[in-house]
Amino acid sequence: MNTQVEQPRRGPSLTLLHSIPIFAGVPDAQLEQIAKVAFQRRVPRLTTIVRAGDSTDSLYVLISGGAKVLNSDEEGREVILTLLGPGEFFGEMGLIDGSPRSADVMSTETCELLVITKNDFKRCLAENFDLCLNIMKSLVQRLREADRNIESLALMDVYGRVAKLLLDFSEEERGERIIRRRLTKQDIAKMIGASREMVSRVMKDLENQGYFRVEDGRIVILEKRVPAPNAAAARP
Ligand code: CMP
Repeated sequence: MNTQVEQPRRGPSLTLLHSIPIFAGVPDAQLEQIAKVAFQRRVPRLTTIVRAGDSTDSLYVLISGGAKVLNSDEEGREVILTLLGPGEFFGEMGLIDGSPRSADVMSTETCELLVITKNDFKRCLAENFDLCLNIMKSLVQRLREADRNIESLALMDVYGRVAKLLLDFSEEERGERIIRRRLTKQDIAKMIGASREMVSRVMKDLENQGYFRVEDGRIVILEKRVPAPNAAAARP
């Protein structure tokens, strides 16, 4: 498993910064300042970019690729808090409250990252109200997602949790809801607190019951309602 990232490379272009949601609405003059202090890094798949407990030094934006945010216990059991994709950022929590990193962030594929160091990030925040607002909106969005996850862990059985997760990860495409992102059964299990074997069984049942079909290796959601909790046997 990789723990090192490559050496920093060239800074980002304004066009690239314009395409990143947290910089939406930030005036060009201020984006130019950000372009001067930010740099790009490529990291291979399965690289631990941020490690839980470490002191904080930088904010990261995913330009391309994907990453998972996870926590693990001493026995190596993992819970995946979320999956991140292009345009999303991480590492802001420690920079905002000064606490150590709250979780590991590991690349799930080769990633191109934009990196802004702690002091530069704080200077950018102080000078950019739009940037502050965009970060706040993302934090609120994450809190909403965390609330929904707590709700489903407390109130749904494994059928409901799997069906809800598939629905949450699906995106509208030509009138259908498709899961574009690569989602392994192991990852699903670590996100909903069940075993991989249970997730395999439940997914087979949901497919047979017409909740989704698999087409060219992608999942197409057919039923948007989450199954009511009734299958006691499906509890982990
Ligand atoms: P930080 O604590 O500095 O390092 C770990 C990062 O993982 C954290 O900042 C956030 O950017 C990210 N993170 C932690 N929990 C979540 C979550 N529930 N959803 C999305 N990102 C998260």
